[in-house]
Order: sequence, then structure tokens, then C-alpha cells
Amino acid sequence: MVYIAPAGIVLCGCVADGDSTRDGPKRANVGLFAFLWDEIASSLGNGGEMLVLLNSGYEEMSREAARIVAGTVRSKPNATLGLATGSTTVGMYKELARLHQEQGLDFSKVITFNLDEYLGLAAEHPQSFHCFMRENFFTHVNVASKNIHIPDGTIGGDYEEYCAAYERAIREAGGIDLQILGIGRNGHIGFNEPTSSFGSRTRLKVLTNETIEDNRKFFGAGEEMPQCAITMGIGTILEAKRILLLATGAAKAETVAEAIEGPITASVTASCLQLHPDVTFVIDEAAGARLKQRDYYRRVMEMTARFTPNRLS
Ligand code: F6R
Repeated sequence: MVYIAPAGIVLCGCVADGDSTRDGPKRANVGLFAFLWDEIASSLGNGGEMLVLLNSGYEEMSREAARIVAGTVRSKPNATLGLATGSTTVGMYKELARLHQEQGLDFSKVITFNLDEYLGLAAEHPQSFHCFMRENFFTHVNVASKNIHIPDGTIGGDYEEYCAAYERAIREAGGIDLQILGIGRNGHIGFNEPTSSFGSRTRLKVLTNETIEDNRKFFGAGEEMPQCAITMGIGTILEAKRILLLATGAAKAETVAEAIEGPITASVTASCLQLHPDVTFVIDEAAGARLKQRDYYRRVMEMTARFTPNRLS
């Protein structure tokens, strides 16, 4: 199937549907194309496009990401933030904690939804994403505990009902204003592993061997590594009003280039972000080393700062 959008964007092929969604593959794809069309049409209206902010290193990348998150919270104190875990985000959370402690950045009305949690891990488990969020962010800022949402890794039984309720809670909060993402070496966002449907919603997802190997280092010797996770879907992520993706280090360079400049494919799920009208990639030089259009992104950064600085805030 080939779609030619008015902007000359060509969408080729069918979307892989390795996921079982509640609605089934057929309806998910019909909805997906309608959604993509709406997104493209609305991006034509507001001039939205992908921004790639190249930073010298991890510290600068973390400060830049925190600056954008802080800008969202200052302009909308009751903003809904979609949060990610992972080593990439640690510096950003540290900087946000500093802004809270030294400059009074107020999170008291902010609502948060985390992307994912390992299946089988209780909130108290040191490797759980609940624990990561407590240690790196929540104990250092003033997000109200009633406003924090992280998938429960200990649910058993009706996963579909649980995941549908998570989706409902996001909708009832007014949708996500700013979604923060990291990226896996295999191009995953959240735990949307390669072949995840672009129409997928929050669901139980089996982790790939690569993801299991990448994360094994955080678990103790002899400790069993979870094989599955509850994760927001690609469809859930694409509905966020704005998306911020952070990437650092040479190990991410190949997948970052595929996500930003490669074909849109479910084999690199982050490539779906090319369809979103307001995505900012905040990356460091090492993670951006394989991008062919680096010089162009630098010029776009300069011109954006000059003509439409609100896009950088
Ligand atoms: C974590 C998550 C993952 C990570 C990704 C990168 O909530 O959803 O997609 O963002 O695996 O992890 P790090 O930053 O550890 O390389």
C-alpha cells in the first residue's frame, strides 16, 4: 500500500502487526491510517516538524532536556508528563531535582504516567521502574503521590483489563502533554520491541533477547531477568502532544540515525516519531555521529532560535 500525503510524504508498505491489540489487527490499521492522516494534516497547519538538538555530551543533553521539561511545567503547572526510566534519563531527573530545590520549580499539580514496568517485579524490587523513579526523581521533587501512575508489575490475570484502565486514566487526565522517551539499541521506545504495531496500546509485551541482555547488568548475578513488561503502546505514545527523545553515547548512534533518517518501519519502532508533528530529539554528539544531516540540524537549531524560539522552550 502506498499513501502520498499532500506534503509529498510517501508512506509505503503495510504496518507490521506482531501485537494482538484489543481491536484486532484490521481495525488497528484502519484507525492507524486515519490517525496518521490527521497528524500529517495538522502538522501542515502548525508548521510542526522534527527538531534535532545536538549537544556536546551527556551533561549538556541532560540540562537541555530538563530545560524543556521545566518549560512545560512552568507554562502549564498541571501538565501531564509521560516519563521514561533508563540510564539515559538519570542526568535529566537530577537537573529537574536541582531546579526544584534551587529555583522552586513546582511539580505539585503535575500528573505523571510512566511508560512501562517489568512484569513480575513488585514496586519495592530494587530493579523495578517504581524504585528507579523513587530514587531518581520522586523523592527529590514535590509530585503528589496521588498523581503518580506507573504500571503495576505484579498484576496477574486480566492484563487486557488492567492495560485498558491505564489507557483510560491517561485519557481522563486530558492526555499526555509531554512524553519523554529513551531509545533502546534495537530502536524500541517504551518496551515497544521491533515489529510492535504502530497502532498498539498499553499491553503486555515480550522482551527481545537484545533488550534482556542490555538490562541484565542491572540485575544481580543469578537473579532472574524478567522476560515481559507492561508498556504503553506506539499508538499511546503518538497521541502525546509533544515528544522528547533523549539519546547518549556511541552505542545508540546507529539506531538514532535509523529512527530519524531511515524508513518508517516497525523494525525500528522509534521511526514512527517521524509521523508526529512535534518531536524533539535531544541527543549528544556520540549518539548523533551517524546522522547524515548533522550540519542541517545545526542550522535548523540556529534558525529556530532566531525565528521561532518558542519551539525550543
Ligand atoms: C524505559 C524505557 C526504555 C529505555 C531504553 C533506553 O522506561 O522505556 O525504552 O528508555 O531502553 O534505556 P537506557 O537509557 O538505559 O539505554
